[in-house]
Amino acid sequence: MLVGVLASGGGSILEAVLGAGVPAEVVLVDRPCPATDVAAAHGVPAVLVARESFGPSFDRVAYTERLVDELQAREVELVVMAGFMTVLEKPIFDAYGGRVLNTHPALLPSFRGAHAVRQAIEAGVKVTGCTVHVATLEVDEGPILAQEAVAVRPDDTEATLHERIKVVERRLLPATVHAIIERGTVLP
Ligand code: GAR
Repeated sequence: MLVGVLASGGGSILEAVLGAGVPAEVVLVDRPCPATDVAAAHGVPAVLVARESFGPSFDRVAYTERLVDELQAREVELVVMAGFMTVLEKPIFDAYGGRVLNTHPALLPSFRGAHAVRQAIEAGVKVTGCTVHVATLEVDEGPILAQEAVAVRPDDTEATLHERIKVVERRLLPATVHAIIERGTVLP
């Protein structure tokens, strides 16, 4: 199963995925970011598919089509979002429906969206965590593949809590991808 990974930021989840031996054909990033260097360090080609806008003029469908073109050019069969911060549109689910994975820093269905860790702290929950799921057109929905809890400490900041959640994501996402590759299907 040929894998393509999408990333946007520091690339620590990407590092864990590639470091665990997930055989990625390509890493696509949506902005200049350290994830590109992480890919290079593992000998995986990184392609910048730059968002032309972060404002209301952003054409999400056209952007998604560009990403799908890059994935299909490399015959990617399984897409793994490893800290990818652009919400994608219908073209990727038309091309890769049921074969797009995402890792999210909360126990879905709680705290969907881009600020899940902050929302967990603001809500005062004592336990949050992370979720690996099949991505669908509805953001942070779709079948849950793996989930693990992380305790919230009284003195946690968004940064300290997010880092402890990421420690778990760095184990859970690669393990989930390896299991999918071994059985040859996304859903068990
Ligand atoms: C991870 O916590 C991942 O769950 C989150 O971004 C972080 C990436 O960390 N993704 C999302 O919030 C997607 N909506 P990294 O840049 O250190 O790899």
